[in-house]
Amino acid sequence: MIISKTIGTTRKIIHEWKQQNAFLGLVPTMGFLHEGHVSLIREARKHNDKVVVSIFVNPTQFGPNEDFKNYPRNFHKDATLCEKEKVDMIFHPEVEEMYPEHTYTHVDVHQLGETLCGATRPGHFRGVCTVVSKLFNIVSPERAYFGEKDAQQLIIIKKLVQDLNLPIQIIPCPTVREENGLALSSRNSYLSPNEQLAALVIPKSLELAKERILHGETKAETIRSLMHENINKVPLATIDYVSIVDAQTLNPIEIIQGHVLLAVAVYIGKTRLIDNFQWQMEA
Ligand code: PAF
Repeated sequence: MIISKTIGTTRKIIHEWKQQNAFLGLVPTMGFLHEGHVSLIREARKHNDKVVVSIFVNPTQFGPNEDFKNYPRNFHKDATLCEKEKVDMIFHPEVEEMYPEHTYTHVDVHQLGETLCGATRPGHFRGVCTVVSKLFNIVSPERAYFGEKDAQQLIIIKKLVQDLNLPIQIIPCPTVREENGLALSSRNSYLSPNEQLAALVIPKSLELAKERILHGETKAETIRSLMHENINKVPLATIDYVSIVDAQTLNPIEIIQGHVLLAVAVYIGKTRLIDNFQWQMEA
């Protein structure tokens, strides 16, 4: 497995692979890899000749009071895991390599990036879209793999690829959960044992909502209230948002119909966790 820290080396190796007609799969990550990332890597491994994992904690997607400095990092462990999963290359640049002084260009997917998480974290999706565009340009993958846990990110990146005519197929991969239902996230490592228990209210209230919807509830407000009520019962949990939106436009809906996304962001103590489920209502 190659570990490349520079754009130049990465491009050179990829150029050689492309000359051999290799198909490339990219798994963009911020490291501290868990089973969710492993599922993306395995999916990429199945369908591509070469698999590149990028490991880069991207400063531009963190707000000034967010956890960029404390974001968990363990490159050695990540590299061991990638090696085991037969990754061909890790791209692991320094911040200065990705953002030299006097970088003025960014990529913004308006509207979609300003709602839900974008409302609480202004500039977050601009940072994500900018770094993902740069990674796409550096690695030139045929396919790129993203987890459905970050539903809004996935929707935005699909739109970015469509709007900019990038010849890259975006492959969504299902959320991986602990046995107790908690969606895997690198940020789960911040949770104390008490907070881990409290965090279970997120998947449990999503399950409850799902059940009610599958039993015929069509009023979004009823589902939202039910979720608020449930989550508010847990003293360590503070709701950022519970939103029921159209899964393409991310506009809030009143009646549950069509392709729907139920997305939540909840602080457990100081840790902000997100989760969601999506479904397509029968016409
Ligand atoms: O989902 C993530 O880990 C990040 O947002 C991504 C896509 C790697 C961009 O930094």
